Amino acid sequence: MTATVSDSVRATSPDTLPATHERAATRRRYLMCEPRYFAVEYAINPWMDPSVPVDTELAVQQWRGLFDTYRRLGHDVSQIEPVDGLPDMVFAANGATVANNRVYGAKFLHAERGGEGPAYLNWFRAAGFDAHDARFINEGEGDLLVVGGRLLAGTGFRTVPEAHAEAGEVLGLSVVTLELVDPRYYHLDTALCVLGPDEIAYFPGAFSAKSQAVLRELYPGAILATAADAAVLGLNAVSDGYHVVLPAEAMALAKTLLARGYQPVPVQLSELRKAGGGPKCCTLELRP
Ligand code: ARG
Repeated sequence: MTATVSDSVRATSPDTLPATHERAATRRRYLMCEPRYFAVEYAINPWMDPSVPVDTELAVQQWRGLFDTYRRLGHDVSQIEPVDGLPDMVFAANGATVANNRVYGAKFLHAERGGEGPAYLNWFRAAGFDAHDARFINEGEGDLLVVGGRLLAGTGFRTVPEAHAEAGEVLGLSVVTLELVDPRYYHLDTALCVLGPDEIAYFPGAFSAKSQAVLRELYPGAILATAADAAVLGLNAVSDGYHVVLPAEAMALAKTLLARGYQPVPVQLSELRKAGGGPKCCTLELRP
């Protein structure tokens, strides 16, 4: 076998990170939902304060920026029609989990978001997907993250552990349960970002000591995000294997990604952050 440049770099200094040319973007298919009816009318996470005014028009504008970014990067973006009275429906990541051409439906913990599960399942069925209803509470890709053939599954605030096994069965993935302990990081996708089939970034402080040990063992080369990056929802990012779309405020994380050969693509989503959401929350990946 011929050694590549990066092999020799790795061999001489194990701390040197893979070079840019190793990263390759692959075309993705995403589902998004315009925040036409976005508001903060209830508080189901510490980011939400109904007394703070929300500019829905600005939220739509910023969301449009994210949508256009994906299109510019060459991805396919489908849209689901927003429903009046479901102000959090913009957070498409929570609508389901899709892998191996199968859809595991969401079942929300809070009544305020209850209508979103069926709305997303209807979209999937109408689009011809093999969609499965969930028996157990789970908030889609908010807590269920596909990393290669593995499903990293969060619990502690929303999704229940019983749903992890159910999701693994429906989607044909092996499951690793992770326990979230900080209410600011109530969904797994606020504390952990999937960069590639074997690469992640995460904020250790969001996880129980036991889950931190599991993550260290499974992903020894993971990017460890700072508290400051986590606090601007920097980990709520979307990777296509090369480009990583992330909140503009997550400066240290962007720098680290660049050093590891990724291309950070900053976006501004300050209005949606008032509900506790960032780019990943707005994006449901339709994996083939
Ligand atoms: N207000 C929403 C909630 O608390 C925000 C959801 C963000 N979505 C996500 N995938 N983290 O449920």
